[in-house]
Amino acid sequence: MTSGHGRPVLPETVLVAGGMPLGGELRVPGDKSISHRALIVGALGEGTSLLRGLSDGDDVRRTRDAVAALGAEVHDDGEVVTVTGGRSLLHAPLGPLDCGNSGTSMRLLAGVAAGLAGVTVLAGDASLSARPMDRVAAPLRAMGATVTGNGPRCLPPLAVTGGSLEGITWTPEVASAQVKSAVLLAGLFAAGETAVRERVRTRPHTEELLALAGADIEVTDEGAGRTVRVRASSLRPFDVVVPGDPSQAAFWVVAACVVPKSALRVRGVYAGETRTGFLSVLRRMGARVGLDGGAPGPAGAAANGRGAVAAGSSVGAVADVTAQWGPLSATVVDASEIPSLDEVPVLAVAAACAEGTTRFVGMGELRVKESDRLRAVARLVSAVGAVARIEGEDLVVEGVGDAGGTGGAGGVGGASGLHHFRFDSEGDHRMAMAAAVAALAAGPGESRIDGFGGVATSYPAFLAHLRHVGGHARVQLVAIDGPAGSGKSTVSRAIAERLGLDRLDTGAMYRAVAWAALERGIDPEDAPGVAELAHEAVIDPGPPDVVIDGVVVTSAIRTPEVNRAVSAVAANPSVRAALVERQRAWAVAHGGGVVEGRDIGTVVFPHADLKVFLTAAPEERARRRREEPSEGVARRDQLDSTRTASPLVQAADARLVDTTCRSVDEVIAEILSWLR
Ligand code: CDP
Repeated sequence: MTSGHGRPVLPETVLVAGGMPLGGELRVPGDKSISHRALIVGALGEGTSLLRGLSDGDDVRRTRDAVAALGAEVHDDGEVVTVTGGRSLLHAPLGPLDCGNSGTSMRLLAGVAAGLAGVTVLAGDASLSARPMDRVAAPLRAMGATVTGNGPRCLPPLAVTGGSLEGITWTPEVASAQVKSAVLLAGLFAAGETAVRERVRTRPHTEELLALAGADIEVTDEGAGRTVRVRASSLRPFDVVVPGDPSQAAFWVVAACVVPKSALRVRGVYAGETRTGFLSVLRRMGARVGLDGGAPGPAGAAANGRGAVAAGSSVGAVADVTAQWGPLSATVVDASEIPSLDEVPVLAVAAACAEGTTRFVGMGELRVKESDRLRAVARLVSAVGAVARIEGEDLVVEGVGDAGGTGGAGGVGGASGLHHFRFDSEGDHRMAMAAAVAALAAGPGESRIDGFGGVATSYPAFLAHLRHVGGHARVQLVAIDGPAGSGKSTVSRAIAERLGLDRLDTGAMYRAVAWAALERGIDPEDAPGVAELAHEAVIDPGPPDVVIDGVVVTSAIRTPEVNRAVSAVAANPSVRAALVERQRAWAVAHGGGVVEGRDIGTVVFPHADLKVFLTAAPEERARRRREEPSEGVARRDQLDSTRTASPLVQAADARLVDTTCRSVDEVIAEILSWLR
């Protein structure tokens, strides 16, 4: 599934089934926090840094594009990203830096921008534009930068005017790794020493990477807190392997704990203390979770002059996380255990499955995440059948689990009181993934999650991984049938795009077979000859290109010769059998999609979620098909509608749409309204 830019996108609506145990092992994407910081510190290093295992999510891509706009050179060969940076290359960008949905990009880059002469504008999408930036603006202003945003809470877009900075000592009111990082990054450009004191230790990746790059940095732990001091320094390039993201691993760990009879191993996860609080919480709940092979190692411990060991050091401790299903009981979770609060949505799902009442204390910051996550978590917990209350800054979850052992349908410790649900994540990636875990736990049946596309910001392979460990997820299947010129292609393309689904043009497959028959001198009426060809040919229906047996035929299948030959080929039952099988396999591989043709709603997918039969007045269809003589179109319609094998007919439960004199937008809006 890719967007027009070749980037993976995810469907907006996903149906996730429960009732199946999960098993096996997987690797989650590279840690998002480390990835952002590796790109930025790499851009500041004097030379070329090699970064392996970077997160492939949209958020990290924003930082990558941003450091390039600031003057670093970035190359990606699919496995290794190289960043060539240095102070002399960096400059304020020509246009605004688009941080998309990524708060990390915006806050960290604000720190770098404070050190650059000129004005850097940092902008984001609607959700990011509602997230306060005052806590990062205040220290940067105190250092001498000018930072402006909207209103008292300094909402984006931000304009940062950098210049000569002075070191400060800053104690953030609320522990925040992003604020700490912004101040430390600005500190690299400041006169004197810059110190950040945190009362609660937050993720240490900026200091780890700065140490790896040889910065003049000093880290002192004091009780639960930490002070980091940095002085202006010239950074050297480094090689790094980004370990797996623990906050993504948390989805699988909780899934293994709550889905009956499951056991999973997540390989190569960052296992530093500031990021694995969720494991301590789960252990307290009685979960069978473990860390395997975690060797604590400070970043850059084995520096070899380039700031890395041979093939790239890893940042901090790395371990496999293992988890197994078992009964869970309630606990109290304090915000300080999970400073970023990133794992709270999925821990709330664990709490919903546990026996007793779990209290999450001090969760106010959840209100200003990608969505109002406090409200969203409560909504999800209630949707799946447990009870959730917001009491001041606390979230209270009354679980439906049966830790004692009689269990229900799920067996011992099963959370039999859960049920399937419909949930709108409102584009918040962590809410969408937490909802998927809740659906996996809810037993036999299927839940519907809307707003799933946001998962692309952090975990584009989430659905593929869900299937890999034995979960079932599918996207909607929309069947669009109709005669030539009824608007099928335009409409299906637009519907697919709006829903974030893939599209299959089955007509292109029949056309490709017709083209190959003509090409090889096989008479289109030679039923056994064409059938053999159809069964043996390898067809890639695209997009972007239609390919048959290695030959790109995207435009060759639209010629008058193929127009004339295709109906006979399509009337051949054996050809149809071969192609229908592949069309069904396509839908399985893609987990659904928008499929257009003549027999999709009647034969190929009689159980499609939505069937549309498009039509239009014959004159209108002939006009739309100017390249094909109107008698040719009429002949094809006649043959397609009267053949014995899967004739073109409207399925009894298909919705009829007459597109004559109607705009594409109108038709799309009507079809989308049926899917809601
Ligand atoms: O471009 P147009 O909409 O006219 O047709 P197409 O979708 O490219 O399909 C070309 C021909 O393939 C049709 O005229 C049908 O004979 C055949 N076809 C079919 O029989 N069953 C399908 N599911 C799709 C196409």
